[in-house]
Amino acid sequence: MKRFSGRVAVVTGGGGGIGSAICQRLAEEGAHVVVTDMNAVAAQEVVNKIVTNGGAAYAIEADISDSRSCTDLITQVMNKSRRIDILANNAGINRRGNLLALTEDDWHTSFAVNLNSMFYLCRAVIPHMIKAGGGAIVNTASQWGLYPAPNHIAYNVTKAAVASFTQNLARDYAPYKIRVNAVCPGEIRTPMLEAGVMRAGKTVADLDRLVPFGRIGNPGEVAALVAFLASDEAQFMCGSLVEITGAQAVA
Ligand SMILES: NC(=O)c1ccc[n+]([C@@H]2O[C@H](COP(=O)([O-])OP(=O)(O)OC[C@H]3O[C@@H](n4cnc5c(N)ncnc54)[C@H](O)[C@@H]3O)[C@@H](O)[C@H]2O)c1
Repeated sequence: MKRFSGRVAVVTGGGGGIGSAICQRLAEEGAHVVVTDMNAVAAQEVVNKIVTNGGAAYAIEADISDSRSCTDLITQVMNKSRRIDILANNAGINRRGNLLALTEDDWHTSFAVNLNSMFYLCRAVIPHMIKAGGGAIVNTASQWGLYPAPNHIAYNVTKAAVASFTQNLARDYAPYKIRVNAVCPGEIRTPMLEAGVMRAGKTVADLDRLVPFGRIGNPGEVAALVAFLASDEAQFMCGSLVEITGAQAVA
């Protein structure tokens, strides 16, 4: 029996490294997946892969930093699929730098993409989940939102806010059987990470050596955790911030 048969899942940043793995994992387990991303080509590629493998998915292009785009996105999904059982708020950006290195645009855009999108999307989705009698929301925070890494103040502060947003939402909507949890990954090998590694003049092997488990994580490992939190197996998990780090401490 597949865990997500008959369920509809919306995944933001679905065209990216971790997002595409989440989409594929949920689809493999029977979900009808809405792959949404501002990169329409990447989102469509993920849909094509899912459909080729016998799953069900469609793509919607949306810039989730914009309130109107978020409400339009959810309206489109409700019109087409009639329900939303799972919302994976995964999209995010990482503007690097300490306070003096960052521009105002870096700061505001980080909040717009990493945090405000969750406010807009949850506000649009939760009324439908309440009507349906429940649902699952899984937010992608970061280990760096719990323990800040140096020189990433905008990223770290937005992810700390995502952690608090998750706990707040969980407390307010648990009575409606809406479970809200967050994953807090350490270093995961994705285009976002590889871009940062290159900019810092390092290699992935350099990062691997810093992890007690012997290597950084891969997107499929985060996707497996997201799938668990979204599933009925995690029935009593609500308001949890789950780290997935290979035992690496933030240095
Ligand atoms: N890679 C890591 O090491 C790591 C660690 C901890 C947390 N995370 C988090 O995991 C999530 C996914 O990261 P990733 O590494 O897969 O990055 P990624 O860059 O591969 O994917 C991010 C996706 O989000 C999309 N996106 C960005 N801005 C958007 C917007 N305004 N509207 C719609 N889509 C937008 C991008 O087009 C991209 O497809 C992020 O929230 C990130 O902060 C990543």
